[in-house]
Amino acid sequence: MNHGLLDRLAAELAVRRERGAVRTDLVVAGPQGTTLTVDGRELVNLAANDYLGLAADPEVLDAARQALDEVGLGVSAGRVLSGTREVHHRLEAAIAALAGTEDAVLFGSCFDANLGVFAALLGPEDVVLSDALNHASLIDGIRLSGARRQVYGHADLGELADLLAASAGARHRVIVTDGVFSMDGDLAPLPALVALARRHDAVLLVDDSHGTGVLGATGAGTAEHLGSQDGIDVLTGTLGKALGGAAGGFVAGSRVLAETLRQSARPYVFTNAMAPALAVAAMTSLRLVRERPDLRDRLVVHTGWLRGALRDLGYEVPPGEHPIVPVMLRGGTLARDVSAELRRHGVLALALAHPVVPAGEERIRVQVSAAHTPEQLERVVAAFGRARSALSAA
Ligand SMILES: Cc1ncc(COP(=O)(O)O)c(C=O)c1O
Repeated sequence: MNHGLLDRLAAELAVRRERGAVRTDLVVAGPQGTTLTVDGRELVNLAANDYLGLAADPEVLDAARQALDEVGLGVSAGRVLSGTREVHHRLEAAIAALAGTEDAVLFGSCFDANLGVFAALLGPEDVVLSDALNHASLIDGIRLSGARRQVYGHADLGELADLLAASAGARHRVIVTDGVFSMDGDLAPLPALVALARRHDAVLLVDDSHGTGVLGATGAGTAEHLGSQDGIDVLTGTLGKALGGAAGGFVAGSRVLAETLRQSARPYVFTNAMAPALAVAAMTSLRLVRERPDLRDRLVVHTGWLRGALRDLGYEVPPGEHPIVPVMLRGGTLARDVSAELRRHGVLALALAHPVVPAGEERIRVQVSAAHTPEQLERVVAAFGRARSALSAA
């Protein structure tokens, strides 16, 4: 490899290492579940997005196994060539049914969906108004479109209204937000965003990767939960979190939107189709989202209980209702130290530090599942309690 490039990369890695900012893979043995085996030890898993426990659901796994036998592993072709199977269309219809939209289009991941959607719809004549805490895939997708990106402060409706008023000459204005923000677990103010979009004749795009299947009476997501489903023009989401946790993403919306994406979204056209067995697993997960509202009910109970128990121990847990529970441990290596202490006590909960969250906003992100047992949640609280005593003694 070219020496100039290698030397520069090595120097940059050394700086990262000095800052303690080098990420290493946590290697897990065995399947996703409410416990994970790491270095031969079983840990209660608070570090996955498997909010309903469907990644380990026997019906989901059986359906995928059966599909593997019937339709094989991969299709070795893109959707627009010979890669489309009937299940892809059935899955798109099932996603549209959940989202309450006319149609939906599958992508290999939500990252791909977000990379593709803006460039297919927008160009330099357009303005995108983007929440400061939006996911990286939205930021990159907006960049690829060539549209002018204006960032408004997180959930700052006043600043957004000013930017909308100032960009009235653009061909289209698109307000872009996560439905649930993945580092804080807070919800976008969708009813107010819908009202602003209507007032300014703007488009509203919501990435509800952490809301789909999790929030709302039918699991349709954050907009259903907040009563603003009608006002969302474009919805993106993932099959890699609550909906079975394997892989896949989607864009849901009107028929014309879907047709446009099928013609010109580059991560739809120029890539391999989703493995049919994964599509079958996602279909099964969507059926369970529909038929098992008790999973969401249990998730609400678990989340409320754990948020309360952690606060009772004296931890700072910002208000919220989502199973992403941030436990604020600001400054230095405190979050990392508490995470290590939790692991010693049989609990896996990861620390987040700069650049994933702003410096001074370090935290442990706890992710609750409907599948956690009460005993596991009690173990978690006991571990947080011990971690607190160990650190105050240190
Ligand atoms: C808000 C949000 N959007 C998109 C993604 C990407 O989803 P996927 O894993 O399907 O690419 C994530 C996952 O990290 C996310 O949190």
